[in-house]
Amino acid sequence: MGLNTTYTARTFDLSDLNGISNETLAMHFKLYEGYVTNTNVLNQRIADLIGDGELDPTQSAAFSELKRRFGFEYNGMVLHEYYFDNMQKQGTGDPFSNSAFIGAAEASFGSYEIWKADFVNTGKMRGVGWAAVYQDPSNGSISNHWINLHETGNVAGFKPILIMDVWEHAFIRDYAPVDRPKYIEAFFSNINWTTVNARLG
Ligand SMILES: [Fe+2]
Repeated sequence: MGLNTTYTARTFDLSDLNGISNETLAMHFKLYEGYVTNTNVLNQRIADLIGDGELDPTQSAAFSELKRRFGFEYNGMVLHEYYFDNMQKQGTGDPFSNSAFIGAAEASFGSYEIWKADFVNTGKMRGVGWAAVYQDPSNGSISNHWINLHETGNVAGFKPILIMDVWEHAFIRDYAPVDRPKYIEAFFSNINWTTVNARLG
């Protein structure tokens, strides 16, 4: 995103998911739109500080704080887009046995079941953040990562394959905080494996 770029919030054709209510989705879309708005606002404020190319030294602390928040909002925007994109109405649960994702999971973890156990347990980790499957473009292997908040833990240059929001706002209307595993189960039943397979390089 250059200083002249502005993002527009996307819409997602999601409703009537298994175990994730339409009210949760509506609230979540609003939160996502907030990340888009804040990404644009921070970008504009940074552009204003930079002005014609010289940063006033008295503004360096303000600039640094804006840049830090920029990483938070920007990753928040992008991760939500991957998350909504990798769900679908009438999901089918686990991927088909001969799919690209199964192949990647077997090559990188030994089996889909071991991959899933590692991913689900990543999603259950205490804290605020995301569970993410990334692919290493240098060798095609996939790995599961915990992303703290939105910006800590993403691997530079790795490709997002499957993104699961485990912030409490993703499920608090449908499940108690201690029931995050039930939300994860619901999330799995809504995964759009066609999208996930297409992301694999
Ligand atoms: Fe979220």
